[in-house]
Amino acid sequence: MEELEKSIEVCDSIRELEKLRVNVFGKKGYFTAEFLKLKELDGEDKRVFANELNKKKDFFTELLNSKKEILEKDEKLQLMQKDAVDVTLLNGVKSTGSLHPVMDTMDKIIEYFTALNFSIEDGPLIEDDFHNFEALNLPKHHPARDMQDTFYFKDSMLLRTHTSPVQVRTMLKQKPPVRMICPGPVFRPDLDLTHTPMFHQIEGLVVEEGKKVSFANLKSILEEFLQYMFGDVKVRFRPSFFPFTEPSAEVDISCIFCGGNGCRVCSQTGWLEVLGCGIVDPNVYKAVGYKNVSGYAFGLGIERFAMLLHKIPDLRSLFEGDLRLLEQFKC
Ligand code: PHE
Repeated sequence: MEELEKSIEVCDSIRELEKLRVNVFGKKGYFTAEFLKLKELDGEDKRVFANELNKKKDFFTELLNSKKEILEKDEKLQLMQKDAVDVTLLNGVKSTGSLHPVMDTMDKIIEYFTALNFSIEDGPLIEDDFHNFEALNLPKHHPARDMQDTFYFKDSMLLRTHTSPVQVRTMLKQKPPVRMICPGPVFRPDLDLTHTPMFHQIEGLVVEEGKKVSFANLKSILEEFLQYMFGDVKVRFRPSFFPFTEPSAEVDISCIFCGGNGCRVCSQTGWLEVLGCGIVDPNVYKAVGYKNVSGYAFGLGIERFAMLLHKIPDLRSLFEGDLRLLEQFKC
């Protein structure tokens, strides 16, 4: 009996404990044998013996149960330690990046024009007055040269305000014909819902010898391009002014949000302005030494295209580096 009690106390597995329970309460166990002894007793002896036996029974029941509880807890703990998961460990699932919507839009535009045999040209972001303004027929008093519209460095260098200086650089290093686009960042000191100090443009330039290039060529290429980008939209050319093109036009597409009926995005006009263009001004040819040529140029803001294509309301969100925005462009 004491031995049983000890065995229970030192027992360290639930399986062992169940065996001991059989030894105590089973058919061939301790209590069955003890209760059989009752038959041989009478009167007061029987009562005292039975009483004792019942107390012992309660004691063992309690002992076995509490031991079982302890062992179960231990077992759980062991299991938890064995199967423990370190939540700080990398899980091996690699998160892939995604193309920024501006870059994605840029790629689409580049793809379109390279398929039409346009070359891709590049130029410096820090420009001089000649390439950014002078050669583009932007006279000294032109407002674009104002401190408010241009980031200047001390030595009269500046951050290019548009991609047009790449036109000049390309024409200076290459004889006609020219058929080029130049994508890249440009800089202007502006910051609000639709302006950021840095944004991206793509410029296009086509120059041929003689009088081959007309406004009709420009119209048709841009119409097709805009329908490729935005689907079934109407395209309209509005007379405008750029110092480096004459005649100049701004190009609108019918509003892709309201189908041209008028909404908040298009300020109820039914039209969205998407790019500037024109026939290259003869003064630009003079600056680069081209003679007897004709050509057209166009320029567009890539962020504006990306915002329209993806219905992004605030231009600034494109530059905040918030992964939650980028996650939405994963393919
Ligand atoms: N450079 C002009 C701008 O930044 C865009 C443009 C390019 C317009 C070429 C006409 C021709 O607004």
